[in-house]
Amino acid sequence: MAIRNIVKEGDEILRKQSREVTAFDRKLWDLLDDMAQTMYKANGVGLAAVQVGVLRQAVVIDVGKGLIELVNPVVTKKKGGEVMDVEGCLSSPGEYGMVPRPKKVEVKAFNRYGKPITVKGDDLLARALCHEIDHLSGRIFKDLVYRMLTKEEIEKL
Ligand code: NI
Repeated sequence: MAIRNIVKEGDEILRKQSREVTAFDRKLWDLLDDMAQTMYKANGVGLAAVQVGVLRQAVVIDVGKGLIELVNPVVTKKKGGEVMDVEGCLSSPGEYGMVPRPKKVEVKAFNRYGKPITVKGDDLLARALCHEIDHLSGRIFKDLVYRMLTKEEIEKL
């Protein structure tokens, strides 16, 4: 396992479409392992493969309830209306904004072995799922932000 460099906002790769994973092999497992290690080292709650420079549809998330690995994830249901809350991104360090996200989502994906899985998330997990899956289509949170937080607001977080 290895810590990988996190691509920062402004790098064009963050705007590109990630490709579907077709081989559930050692290379994918190494990528997922490295992504998790990189996310934890950076104290993040989610990371998409594009953020380590790999245009593949893979994300890792841990909102404090254990590691979730998702390959080729798709949001299949949104429920409960939208919730406005603070959001940031490891590719935009030190910046936060208020972003509307669905209260609940259902995501269909594959695990690292190619087995279909369904993940349901509320609140922070729903937010992380939407945020990371957006990265796979070249979207960042600032595309959806209602307003960015001021320095004073960030100090109070
Ligand atoms: Ni992000």
